[in-house]
Amino acid sequence: MSSYWDNYWQQGHITSFGTDIQGNYDGTLKDVWQSLFSSLGEGEVLDLCCGNGALALLADESNEALRVTGVDSAALPITSVGKRKHELMAQINCENLPFSSERFDAVISQFGVEYTKLDKTLMEVKRVLKLNGTLQFVCHVGDSVIVMPNKRILDCLDELFEENGFIDLITSTMEDSDSLNKLGAKLYHTYREALTATELPQFFAYYSRLTADSERKKAVELFKKEAQGQRARLKDLCEAALSVNEIEYVLQTLNELGFANIETREIFHEKLGKIGLKISAKIIQ
Ligand SMILES: C[S@@+](CC[C@H](N)C(=O)[O-])C[C@H]1O[C@@H](n2cnc3c(N)ncnc32)[C@H](O)[C@@H]1O
Repeated sequence: MSSYWDNYWQQGHITSFGTDIQGNYDGTLKDVWQSLFSSLGEGEVLDLCCGNGALALLADESNEALRVTGVDSAALPITSVGKRKHELMAQINCENLPFSSERFDAVISQFGVEYTKLDKTLMEVKRVLKLNGTLQFVCHVGDSVIVMPNKRILDCLDELFEENGFIDLITSTMEDSDSLNKLGAKLYHTYREALTATELPQFFAYYSRLTADSERKKAVELFKKEAQGQRARLKDLCEAALSVNEIEYVLQTLNELGFANIETREIFHEKLGKIGLKISAKIIQ
């Protein structure tokens, strides 16, 4: 799954929201992390699924005594980040961590651990945390304002790739612009913003201006590749987002592993609505 993340982080993004966010996370998410970092005093923090180190950069701003190590399964373009050169380790699977037991004072993750096999990752988290160590995750949930619109875009992409769908039609009948226009209009009527987010309308406007068959074929292949990439990424996101049952499973597993003070809190963006779920706990045995 990490191949699109390899490419994504190589492009130099700081957050996982691409060009939707300028710079690092801000607002409620930033507050959630800064309040944890300020409360930790000094120590070592492990950031699971760290990407290009957004959380290490936030730690830099709020607590100089923290040393963050980030791990991610993707091929990250950088090996350290921030004023304090927090280490970022690429191509590391959180389900099998290369650290000795009881090394970290805190283990954190943002929009990360839910992509992994949670039973294995949580056992590793417990192993590498010191006694009285802190766990804090912010996870995607199915009914957030991040996941819900993306589910709709995924439905739309699935329909484009259905048998005899738009992609089949444009690949097989390059000349039949009437049928393509009709199908495009039907899709727009059903999906609106979600269709725009697939960039099909923009692609089709460009495609319609092309006259040479070879150019049209090339354009279709390029669109197909981009759309397949977007489809794979959104499928992973929608599958990763925690359901009510999965949240229950995480809480129960933490309890069985010996964590205490297990708490959840829904995280809301000031204007947009629910953006995720914070899960926190302390290991006491
Ligand atoms: C949505 S991004 C989150 C990045 C970062 N935490 C942030 O908030 O910007 C999810 C990350 O999880 C990583 N990932 C997925 N499965 C993983 C695994 N089993 N072990 C380590 N990293 C994984 C991906 O490579 C990707 O970088």
